[in-house]
Amino acid sequence: TTYKVGYIVGSLATRSINRTLARALIRLAPPELQFNEIPIKDLPLYSYDYDSDFPAEGKALKDAIAAADAILFVTPEYNRSIPGGLKNAIDWASRPWGENSFTHKPSAVIGASPGAIGTAVAQQSLRGVLSYCNSPQMNAPEAYIRFKPEVFTPEGEVTDAHTQEFLRRFMKEYRDHIVRVLTVLPPRL
Ligand code: FNR
Repeated sequence: TTYKVGYIVGSLATRSINRTLARALIRLAPPELQFNEIPIKDLPLYSYDYDSDFPAEGKALKDAIAAADAILFVTPEYNRSIPGGLKNAIDWASRPWGENSFTHKPSAVIGASPGAIGTAVAQQSLRGVLSYCNSPQMNAPEAYIRFKPEVFTPEGEVTDAHTQEFLRRFMKEYRDHIVRVLTVLPPRL
């Protein structure tokens, strides 16, 4: 069986280190996981004024999440929280009321920063948001990645064996989490 993972990169920067991390995770993931990026950069700023007439960008986001078996968030930490662009995307996907795209959708959270705590505070904040959105999250392992350019090539090759093994295990555990969640919470029609 294969599982479709929609991944969301929390950064809009062209040379995002979190995009590099996402490339690395895709390379190291078990073969049953198939990846599609869910883009967030063209979404307008959300307001519930849009709920009665969702724009194409909002619909595309919700369709992409619906088409995925699971969501992977790869996010930087901005000012000890998640970037505004990512929060905006989550707000879009959670609405209109009663049509929250994250309900029962398995997820995992990971992120990279040059700093020592490796996005830990942002991830904690994101976990609170995802709890509210009723997404069954992988609790463990956690992954706070201190990004070193000598460890990740721009194409997402990981040159350090320990980091490689750590990320490979994270993705194996994520696959197991997806399988478990889909077993008890089959996708809604
Ligand atoms: C940062 N950075 C940062 N790093 C961190 O570890 N904790 C933080 O709270 C912040 N705050 C922050 C705010 C803003 C507005 C910017 C632009 C940056 C540094 C950040 O980790 C670094 O720029 C990374 O390169 C961001 O990841 P992406 O965007 O390259 O994927």
